[in-house]
Amino acid sequence: MSGGWAKIYQNIINKSIIEGAPTAGFFELTSRCNFHCKMCYVCSMPEDRSYLQNELTTQQWVELGRQARDEGLLFLTLSGGEIFMRKDFFDIYEPLSEMGFNITLFTNGSLIDAEKARRLGERPPSKVSITLYGACPETYGRVTGHPEGFDKVINAIKLLLAENIKVELKTTAIKDNYREFHDIYEIADGLGLTLGVVNYVAPRREGCGTDPENNRLDPIELARYEKMLQDFRLKHTDMKKLKKVLKISVDEDVMTEKTIGDAINKLLETKKTDCVFNCTATRCAFWLSWDGKLTPCGLLTEPSVDVKKHGFLESWKHLKSAGLDVPVCNECNSCQYRKRCMTCPARLKVETGRFDRPAPYLCELSKARAELEVIY
Ligand SMILES: C[S@@+](CC[C@H](N)C(=O)[O-])C[C@H]1O[C@@H](n2cnc3c(N)ncnc32)[C@H](O)[C@@H]1O
Ligand code: SF4
Ligand code: SF4
Repeated sequence: MSGGWAKIYQNIINKSIIEGAPTAGFFELTSRCNFHCKMCYVCSMPEDRSYLQNELTTQQWVELGRQARDEGLLFLTLSGGEIFMRKDFFDIYEPLSEMGFNITLFTNGSLIDAEKARRLGERPPSKVSITLYGACPETYGRVTGHPEGFDKVINAIKLLLAENIKVELKTTAIKDNYREFHDIYEIADGLGLTLGVVNYVAPRREGCGTDPENNRLDPIELARYEKMLQDFRLKHTDMKKLKKVLKISVDEDVMTEKTIGDAINKLLETKKTDCVFNCTATRCAFWLSWDGKLTPCGLLTEPSVDVKKHGFLESWKHLKSAGLDVPVCNECNSCQYRKRCMTCPARLKVETGRFDRPAPYLCELSKARAELEVIY
């Protein structure tokens, strides 16, 4: 996002935060996925009936879209699991698109064929954000369990671009793929696309068989990786061509974008807020899980409100007020490493089981960042 549109976006988010309007939301259409990434926080098996039968139906998603639009939803991200696992994906997407949302699709890309790309092209989303898990079939095999996925994803990107659909790439760094960063970068560059980096890998929220904590980078490895990215960025900003392509945004995790963070920081500086979330969660953003739980963000299972029982508006009101009860972590607030740390209530909770307890993984990372002079 750049120039005038970034400013407009920032203004809308600022205003929504002040008014407490649900302007940005994630619809997690399914937890099922055709891939089985080692570090995934959510995935369940492709046709697992126990998950299938608890997914919100086509009509429920469309109706919730309507209700959320009436309360001010504008920026809508559809995520999963893998959204294209749903056979009714277009029956959900097309009515939502008709409602006028600015829609982003989060996908692994591997299930997008010519027909799906064509159909998306008829009502293009604002962007399709595809995660690249490696730069070759072998790495795809190690990370996702599907070596054939690599060629499918590259093909899908080309199909989407041929339909004039905006595509953005990101990569999630884990032990099995982080050494391939330069090759992944070359792929993005070769396709003329920007590349984001998901550097924080959270513990598993639900699902089976994945093991984020044993597959993510150790704190020191992660700090070194970030340092490498920092040097890479510094080295290239001199070069005009690369400046255009290289928009590595570290910490572009499932909930936050840097532009949003800046808006919150202004509010925090002026102390006009009682909410301890340092992103948009519960202020003007929400996550709606595949089984109908409204939560602050995709990492968390609480606080949570059942939209099937309460409908969207009531659930949003409950969530906002529950967000205000989330306790602050005093140790983090007075910590000398705070500025270098990615601490937030959600991360503390998933790392330690409590919102107000420092997380050893984040503490070690912050110290390593300080030693390596990683500017965060
Ligand atoms: C859960 S996936 C859903 C969309 C799609 N299946 C994909 O892989 O892009 C959304 C994003 O979360 C990232 N992700 C997966 N596991 C994660 C974890 N444990 N912590 C943080 N991000 C994670 C993925 O790499 C992806 O970029
Ligand atoms: S990260 Fe995405 S592609 Fe990988 S298993 Fe999870 S939902 Fe599927
Ligand atoms: S998580 Fe640890 S390093 Fe980070 S701010 Fe809290 S106490 Fe400091």
